[in-house]
Amino acid sequence: MSRKTNRLKRAGATSSSSRDNTSKARIIAVCNQKGGCGKTTSVINIAAGLASLGRKVLVVDLDSQCNATTGLGFEHSEETKSTFDLMVDTGKVHLSDVVQETEYPQLFLAPGSIELSEFESRVAAEIGRENKLKKALSRAASDYDFILLDTPPSLGLISVNALNAATEVQIAMQAHPFALDGLNLLLETIELVREELNPRLSVSGVYFTMFDGRTNISHLILEEVESIPELKNKIFKTVVRQNVKVTEATQAKVPVMYFDAHCVGTQDYMALAKEISRQGKHATRTARSPKQTQDELSV
Ligand SMILES: Nc1ncnc2c1ncn2[C@@H]1O[C@H](COP(=O)(O)OP(=O)(O)OP(=O)(O)O)[C@@H](O)[C@H]1O
Ligand SMILES: [Mg+2]
Repeated sequence: MSRKTNRLKRAGATSSSSRDNTSKARIIAVCNQKGGCGKTTSVINIAAGLASLGRKVLVVDLDSQCNATTGLGFEHSEETKSTFDLMVDTGKVHLSDVVQETEYPQLFLAPGSIELSEFESRVAAEIGRENKLKKALSRAASDYDFILLDTPPSLGLISVNALNAATEVQIAMQAHPFALDGLNLLLETIELVREELNPRLSVSGVYFTMFDGRTNISHLILEEVESIPELKNKIFKTVVRQNVKVTEATQAKVPVMYFDAHCVGTQDYMALAKEISRQGKHATRTARSPKQTQDELSV
């Protein structure tokens, strides 16, 4: 993993972290059981954006598809320990055994592996199976400013582990009619985890991905989500517009800001990273401006 670091300056990176060692990481579970709605792309690009702002960031890949792992340019091999080992061999494998440096300053990765697809059956009979990730991350919370958890497209045990370990949850959503279908179930799951396992958990924001401001339906869905009581004032002001450079960056396995420092995708993800960074510690509410202009929201 040693490419393209010289592009940092172009993208406005800073070299040193402003964190002090007594502060605790914001642990953000990025969730939505709907597949392909931009969770992993957002985790990679928000993480790169936050790291370029000088924050120390760890991406934790919890999906057996390992898209966050490959998207940060890392190829998993049999010798490398993954988040599966971390959660299955708790006590024997520590986070420091798993974390890899990336080629981007301040940005670290706990890689996933295909074995994550067996996680549920492997720990099914174990007491405390919902606490595996929480335990694994507990001692590392003071080592990072942000820990971003990329979750799979399901509300199974891995997502429950992520919600239990997190200090906050962000929902990545596409402004598409199907996107609303599973939203209630997701909100119910978050509420259940908050009640039963993790009282500090709350939704700290919803962001729209692949947004096409030219279509009425996108705006209608955005308004519909804003009207859901649990999500009132929690929609990020920044919407991430549909942008082919984001797809090309995914294919090139680099964060979009290192692929094209000036494209719309870089602008939007930097704006979102700044908005997230400005939020208070542990889940503050982010008000969306009452009406963004068509220009702001269109491609
Ligand atoms: N703003 C965007 N503009 C264009 N394409 C995008 C944008 N955001 C994401 N994509 C593309 O959409 C596809 C799906 O994105 P991604 O893999 O991040 O979704 P996901 O929610 O993580 O999927 P899964 O649920 O399978 O894990 C990818 O090919 C990605 O490049
Ligand atoms: Mg994904």
